[in-house]
Amino acid sequence: MDRDVISRSFGSAIELDQADPLAGVRQAFDLPHRVVYLDGNSLGPLPKAVPKAMAQVIERQWGATLIKSWNDHDWITLPSRVGEKIARLIGAGPGQVICTDSVSVNLFKVLAAALRLSSSPGKILSEADNFPSDLYLVEGMNALLGEEAPAFEVVQTDALLDHLDASVSILLLTQVNFKTGALHDLAELTARAQAVGALVIWDLSHSTGVLELELDAANVDFAVGCGYKFLNGGPGAPGYVYVASRHQGSVTQPLSGWMGHAQPFAFSQDYVPAQGITRFLSGTPAILSMTALDAALTVFDGLALAQIRAKSEQLGAYLIHLTDAIDDELELISPSAPSQRGSQVSFRHPLAYPIVQALIEADVIGDFRAPDIVRLGFNPLFNSFSDIEQAARVLKTVLKTGGHLEPRLNARKLVT
Ligand SMILES: Cc1ncc(COP(=O)(O)O)c(C=O)c1O
Repeated sequence: MDRDVISRSFGSAIELDQADPLAGVRQAFDLPHRVVYLDGNSLGPLPKAVPKAMAQVIERQWGATLIKSWNDHDWITLPSRVGEKIARLIGAGPGQVICTDSVSVNLFKVLAAALRLSSSPGKILSEADNFPSDLYLVEGMNALLGEEAPAFEVVQTDALLDHLDASVSILLLTQVNFKTGALHDLAELTARAQAVGALVIWDLSHSTGVLELELDAANVDFAVGCGYKFLNGGPGAPGYVYVASRHQGSVTQPLSGWMGHAQPFAFSQDYVPAQGITRFLSGTPAILSMTALDAALTVFDGLALAQIRAKSEQLGAYLIHLTDAIDDELELISPSAPSQRGSQVSFRHPLAYPIVQALIEADVIGDFRAPDIVRLGFNPLFNSFSDIEQAARVLKTVLKTGGHLEPRLNARKLVT
């Protein structure tokens, strides 16, 4: 489908679905009937390949061959094998990506590694709207470093370029803003940072699997990303670390556990980092979670990220079109230009929390982000234009009939 077809003329959802080359991929997921799932950017749904793969590893490997499975079923290399599958999705050549740990833990490792690598440690620059965990981790690292800690400057997004000068040694950014979906130009900012001598760390949690990423071509230094959002690896799936080959001989990371050792089973007293990206491992890999992610990644076999991105832009444009002016208080806060948006559309509304609860009760699952954001994410692998049409219709009905005004919908759950 032509990329501009949506903005020129909106066909019906059915026509758009009929013209969608990715429509069949939905069959690869086990989605509950009738549910419109617009939260795959928080937790991807279950790919059908996962339960089979998990059962195989649990029963035939863990159950049958016990600890021998580390060798017999090659569990020990699973982090690098899954890393290589992710590498294809982010434009990374071999040996630069490893699957391990959570995004937060990986970010800590990469931050410290980048800091050690900087020839003249200057400040770390980030933006106020970054995902909070990323900012907390810099604070945590700095607390450990005490007087040696680098300055940490957090500025508004539109002031980033003004602050990007020779005093910066690390630029830490998340490519897609988790609240608004606004997209940074990864190649442009990487080049700008490197031009003033800074290293760049990208958090690609909301990008991986849905944007066309070319990390090698953009000369990115470090990146981390998430396994349970657009990669559909399951709750708490491990994330990944990318470290450009050119840095791998000289970087070290502080969570120097045995799995990142050159010879873990030599059990030597001293830490000697493994060659290459393997030194970014720390402890024993979570084989069951990683098996789920490994199986989930098969959904991408034979698919081009360009195709996925094109549909993502169209789904967003369609949602914005259908929700245009449905309520005076519902304010679009995502960029309206598809090229400047990740795979989500967000609105601000003073009653965002009960609105999201009312949508969920009507089987349209999106999420609320404090203090007042309705966030609807879409994954082109399973979301259809009919999903978008239904979500817009339900949102309109809720706002028109006051379905969100029921007091019980205000009760905040532990996870919002
Ligand atoms: C952009 C971003 N960075 C970091 C994280 C933290 O990820 P984790 O909980 O896997 O450490 C998240 C979680 O949603 C995120 O969206």
